[in-house]
Amino acid sequence: MTIEFRVPTDDEWPAMMRADARAFGFVPTPEMIEQRRPMLDLDRFRIAVDGGQIVGVAGAFAFDITVPGGATVPASGITWVSVSATHRRHGVLTELMRLLDEQADERGEPVAVLFASEGGIYRRFGFGVATMLRWYEIERATAHLRSGLPVDRDAVRYVEGDAARDHLAVTWERYRRSRAGEISRDTVWHDQTHEVREKPNDEMSATFHLAHRDGYAAYRIREHWTGRPENRLELVEFVPVTDQAHLDLWATILGVDLVGTIASKNLAPDEALPWLLTDVRSVATTHLRDGMWAKVIDPAVVFGARAYGTDDRLVVEVDGVRWAIEQADGEASCRRVRSRPDLVTDAPSFGALLFGGVRATALASGRTLEAPDDRTLARADAFFVVGRAPHCSTWF
Ligand SMILES: CC(C)(COP(=O)(O)OP(=O)(O)OC[C@H]1O[C@@H](n2cnc3c(N)ncnc32)[C@H](O)[C@@H]1OP(=O)(O)O)[C@@H](O)C(=O)NCCC(=O)NCCS
Repeated sequence: MTIEFRVPTDDEWPAMMRADARAFGFVPTPEMIEQRRPMLDLDRFRIAVDGGQIVGVAGAFAFDITVPGGATVPASGITWVSVSATHRRHGVLTELMRLLDEQADERGEPVAVLFASEGGIYRRFGFGVATMLRWYEIERATAHLRSGLPVDRDAVRYVEGDAARDHLAVTWERYRRSRAGEISRDTVWHDQTHEVREKPNDEMSATFHLAHRDGYAAYRIREHWTGRPENRLELVEFVPVTDQAHLDLWATILGVDLVGTIASKNLAPDEALPWLLTDVRSVATTHLRDGMWAKVIDPAVVFGARAYGTDDRLVVEVDGVRWAIEQADGEASCRRVRSRPDLVTDAPSFGALLFGGVRATALASGRTLEAPDDRTLARADAFFVVGRAPHCSTWF
């Protein structure tokens, strides 16, 4: 088989979407094909073509991603990855990933990120688990806020239509800078998301939007009536910019009557709701796994852009190349050196360290990072892990 790898043309878009959808097990409607097109810049995609048929697809969104400390850097957001069942395990994905690496270099994107359909695919391409994903179920009957909390009962209102879309877009721009791992969303992204959320989905209602001056929450309801009302509230998004918004939004959500269970696949892994409640056990984790994966492309840029928990200097050897990562008087830098390493690791674990979502100590126990002693590991933990847990709540 002779496979050609190239940028798709506009005319190839419907075939490209059908090929990708097939790999994920669905057939796109003409409406979906038309609707998705504006979200994608086809120049950022590569396809594999065999005898005129598209057999492989991969592309990258252009994002800005927040690193610990609140700075943002350009990121290559790998997406739409698929290879036809007829051509799998012939190295098609390997070549597509190489082309996307090349593209990130050319476009000056110092980090690549993705969500993986399966956990076994991306380590070989240099990606490590950068953020964790936690699914929650909250038993509403026992989830009572502790007394005396300063809830502002006038702070939250329902918004609809364009007002909801606009409030979400403006608030997202503030929120995403407050949490490492969160990414930018452009106007098209907001429009498309809003359009999708305006419709019922999977036997759930269309989306309800709660607006706070410093945040928002979006949820759908799955109606469920047994002997008594036991609706399920699916929290689509929960975006508090401040702790006050976090409290006020939770006070409203916990007060939505006729709801038995509140479920979310999108809350941060360090969500603070349990600490607001009289009974911490009302909040259960039903699922904990890898969230966003990251691959460091330009260490000097990304590790130089982030903030660290301590002023220190650690030399990290990654696949034989040594990087001195330093913070002095709050100023960070990362540069290539030859001096003796404090930590020796590989590309995936370097990606894991970038956002501070995985501790060096855990990577050492997992035998993907080596340090001369526990003291160096403790220094690395104090250095790389900072502030709130990184989180990427936009699945792409
Ligand atoms: C995952 C997928 C893109 C792989 O494409 P592919 O062209 O078969 O991959 P390659 O031939 O380049 O494989 C490269 C290596 O990765 C391994 N690999 C590929 N897919 C893997 C998987 N799902 N789990 C574990 N290893 C995998 C291969 O065995 C191969 O290993 P080797 O170099 O030791 O032989 C393809 O199977 C697919 O389209 N799956 C369904 C859609 C999907 O999950 N896409 C990913 C979205 S994030």
